[in-house]
Amino acid sequence: MARLAVNVDHVATVRQARGGDEPDPVLAAGLAELAGAEGIICHLREDRRHINERDLRILRQTVKTRLNMEMAAVDEIVEIALDVKPDLVTLVPEKRQELTTEGGLDVRAQSGHYRDVVERLKGAGIQVSLFIDPDPDQIQAAHQCGADIVEIHTGHYSESHSEPKAVEQFGRIVKAVESATKLDLGISAGHGLNYVNVKRFKDLSHIEEYSIGHSIVAMAVLIGFEQAVRKMIDLVKNF
Ligand code: PXP
Repeated sequence: MARLAVNVDHVATVRQARGGDEPDPVLAAGLAELAGAEGIICHLREDRRHINERDLRILRQTVKTRLNMEMAAVDEIVEIALDVKPDLVTLVPEKRQELTTEGGLDVRAQSGHYRDVVERLKGAGIQVSLFIDPDPDQIQAAHQCGADIVEIHTGHYSESHSEPKAVEQFGRIVKAVESATKLDLGISAGHGLNYVNVKRFKDLSHIEEYSIGHSIVAMAVLIGFEQAVRKMIDLVKNF
């Protein structure tokens, strides 16, 4: 049975919109765990646009399941990871201008660099996952770098605007899962998965974990909105 790991970056994005202290991604992580999530993910970006070091360090102390720190394979952030020691690190490509992570790592092109970073993190007892496109060559390269897990980028599938395109992109994911299974890698998947498109994965039993953030926050805003308004009405009507 697959696990759900919840990405709380988008809660921090709402906080940062006002530059204040709510909503707190740390509290959201606790609620996600109470609801049954088996992992919490946060991405400490170089520009700190949502999650900051305070969040990461408190999450390290409060997460009871498994803390997965997403990060770029750059020295400054590697040092922080070695200090904080999340249970798992997921290395992702990072561009300053992007709205969110846009694609998988090119592990083949920079295999020496990734091998070094994977080795440093694993040396500190941290499991390492590499976020890659559903491409057997990249999976092979991730394996050669010593990764424990590959997270298969589902963004191209999620963004498919027609059924034939979705079928084609999903086919790439199925092949990638087969390649990773043969290499005995742990397999997770994520990016752009929502309450509709995730259903297609029901028979892909080799995927152990789904990493989902945006659609959960979007759903929470909608299904929690009425209750939040009622609570405020209750207050102002009872002045
Ligand atoms: N996996 C990785 C590597 C990501 O960068 C993200 C986005 O933060 C996700 C999964 C989750 O994607 P989404 O927020 O679209 O569910």
